Amino acid sequence: MTNQNSLDHAKKLDQEDPLAHLRNEFHIPKDKDGNDWLYFTGNSLGLQPKLTQKYIQQELDDWAKYGVEGHFEAQNPWMPYHEFLAETMAEIVGAKPLEVVVMNTLTTNLHLLMVSFYQPTKTKYKIVIESDAFPSDRYAVQSQLAFHGFDPKDGLVEWKPREGEELLHMEDLETILEEQGDEIALLLIGGVNYYTGQYFDIKRIAELGHAKDCIVGVDLAHGAGNIQPNLHESGVDFAAWCTYKYLNSGPGSLAGLFVHEKHANRRDLPRFAGWWNHNKETRFNMRQPFDVMEGAEGWQLSNPPILSMAAIRASLDVFAKVGMDALREKSLKLTGYFEYLINQIDSDQIKIITPSNPKERGCQLSVQVKNADKSLHQKLTEQNVITDWREPDVIRCAPVPMYNCFVDVYKMIEILKGYL
Ligand SMILES: Cc1ncc(COP(=O)(O)O)c(C=O)c1O
Repeated sequence: MTNQNSLDHAKKLDQEDPLAHLRNEFHIPKDKDGNDWLYFTGNSLGLQPKLTQKYIQQELDDWAKYGVEGHFEAQNPWMPYHEFLAETMAEIVGAKPLEVVVMNTLTTNLHLLMVSFYQPTKTKYKIVIESDAFPSDRYAVQSQLAFHGFDPKDGLVEWKPREGEELLHMEDLETILEEQGDEIALLLIGGVNYYTGQYFDIKRIAELGHAKDCIVGVDLAHGAGNIQPNLHESGVDFAAWCTYKYLNSGPGSLAGLFVHEKHANRRDLPRFAGWWNHNKETRFNMRQPFDVMEGAEGWQLSNPPILSMAAIRASLDVFAKVGMDALREKSLKLTGYFEYLINQIDSDQIKIITPSNPKERGCQLSVQVKNADKSLHQKLTEQNVITDWREPDVIRCAPVPMYNCFVDVYKMIEILKGYL
């Protein structure tokens, strides 16, 4: 159907949307008159599924009822609880269950993965990141370089946009690898860039990196639950992502970790150890020498927080009802409609910096509003349009196919137009 710039058309798109019912599975924040907020920050903190409270309550009840026996007696026994998450989480990122585990938080997981996969030598030690990588990733790799005795100024290689541009070109990464590949040990790339929303061809990056004997890792904070990264097939060595954005699992919730099957039984890799990556068959014998588990579980250290995992289970159960293919199909339409409406605005003050090719983006559009300052964001917030502001002049908006509707998008643009 051709897009039209009218409320009636937006309503029609909602009526025809096979996933429209999913919105009812979420708590949508409301204004004082009971109207739904126009919430576009699922790229920062996803909304709460209605199931979450029930799933957390179940664990609280079982804790009250069984105490420590809940590890075995709870309706969902706590001992293997993380295993209940592996299958759906693996499907969401296109991996095998063996390759995925939920544990810790994102930056912590990146460090644990670098303990194993960043093995610099005197001559091959550099790390490539995007020049506008999320600050936590930049700090993490800088501190890894310093930890191994290298000067981060020399060891950090930035994949930069060309003069006057915002997006990155794959050919420029190729040039970096041609020129410095022999000195590069690791590429750590945000699968979907947090600022521009650019979605990279992860498989191509893995091929390019591997051709130069580099390890390739991806940060999927903005990818998991948004696009299908097909991690196994992509061949990347490792990945990590948080679950509080598109995976709707609550503020500061646990993170996901992927280690490719080819490394599942690598006992030669250095890694930190705790009782939770020791063989679960003999874990409670307590006196065994360390015997590392295979697969991603072999990177765990501690017994996991069940209440946070209960929230992840609730969210994954909503994902399992639809699957990533259907979500992505809606996402392409929803973000496409958003883009269409922005392009209809008759003002050269506004420019979308996210790629216009839908295959090179997820649901987020980063909209540059020239000569604007943060007061624009403030005004939108006062109208209950919740977006995310990035200095100096970019509004990041993520219409999330799970709970945003076409009417949300239409109304948001009408309000934005009023401030231009
Ligand atoms: C791309 C990216 N990397 C890393 C982080 C840091 O995550 P955490 O605080 O869970 O370690 C974030 C947080 O938003 C992020 O967006």
